[in-house]
Amino acid sequence: MTEKLFIVAAPGLEALTARELATLGLTGVTVAGGMELRGGLDSIYRANLHLRTASRILVRLGEFYAAAFSELRKKASRLPWERYLAPGQPVALRATCHKSRLYHSDAVIERVLGAIGDRLGQAAPLSAWDEESEGQPPQGVVIRLANNLCTISVDSSGALLHRRGYRLATAKAPLRETLAAAMVLASGWDGRAPLLDPFCGAGTILIEAALWARRIAPGKARRFTFMDWPGFDASLWEATLAAALAAERPLEAPLLGSDRDAGAIQFAAANAVRADVAADIEFSCRPLSAIAPPPGPGWLITNPPYGVRVSAAKDLRNLYAQFGNILRRRCPGWQVAFLCNSVPLMRQTGFTLERSHSWSNGGVRVYLARGVV
Ligand SMILES: C[S@@+](CC[C@H](N)C(=O)[O-])C[C@H]1O[C@@H](n2cnc3c(N)ncnc32)[C@H](O)[C@@H]1O
Repeated sequence: MTEKLFIVAAPGLEALTARELATLGLTGVTVAGGMELRGGLDSIYRANLHLRTASRILVRLGEFYAAAFSELRKKASRLPWERYLAPGQPVALRATCHKSRLYHSDAVIERVLGAIGDRLGQAAPLSAWDEESEGQPPQGVVIRLANNLCTISVDSSGALLHRRGYRLATAKAPLRETLAAAMVLASGWDGRAPLLDPFCGAGTILIEAALWARRIAPGKARRFTFMDWPGFDASLWEATLAAALAAERPLEAPLLGSDRDAGAIQFAAANAVRADVAADIEFSCRPLSAIAPPPGPGWLITNPPYGVRVSAAKDLRNLYAQFGNILRRRCPGWQVAFLCNSVPLMRQTGFTLERSHSWSNGGVRVYLARGVV
């Protein structure tokens, strides 16, 4: 049986997520905020396990017009909830209403919760929707009302997909794993040339680079909500996981990370151990001025500090100028890709750069600046 799936991706990441899906043999339509496609359990399991840049995967349960609460409850109770929820299982509902007769989201949630109870023969306890939950959250249901059209989806992922399970320790301003993976995929690095991150912090970019280059599935060590569905197919999941493990391969190029902060390097090393790529990355505590790149040319993919505070502006200008000077001396001919929120700061490097992607990092608009040293 195939279902309508929606792969949620952060703004600006949709095209990369679509590319990832294509390599899994899944094609769909790219829309704002993600991709729509049709697929069965196999697609749901593989997408959750393998996608590096997606946030979560929703399964469309139903779509219908509802202009009155009684209509909403009646129509929602006809949906096949039993595929995703056991009677009495806690559920977290989130509703958005836009240009619709039913505009009170709490009342919409109450009716859909009632409909679930009607269908399953037992009331479902309502849990809070916690987007940032560290653990395994309850089954999530997303309700969207727009122009009186009600779309109801169930979440298949649970904790957001950037939670791979390896990053317990973070230094200052850590990068979301999905964005770090996006930088690696968008940079053009092919996994064969050396890769250096001289501002590596907790090591997220290098860990994501190692996972991608070794074809390690980012979700192999975590749980997903679909594992709790009454129709969970354990043997299909085991076969999906076994195929992913069999496709892993060794690294072909050195990966090096450094940071001037000794605590950050300790975090990075601990995270790499948990991600099972400790042997693939060499971390060292050193300032930018002491970087020692291996023979190249290789790639620098990095997330230098970028300030939002005006007081730090002069220091940052100096740091970006130093970044340019040091790379010109030690990494001539290397490709560089870095995240930055300010065109004047990018210019301080003296490189000719293109801004190839625009993303949001913790609410700050950032660009991927790419060029050759
Ligand atoms: C935005 S954070 C990088 C975060 C990293 N991508 C992660 O996921 O944790 C910038 C890092 O640059 C480091 N840093 C700042 N100035 C530096 C310098 N002159 N030399 C080396 N590292 C520096 C900071 O210690 C900080 O860890």
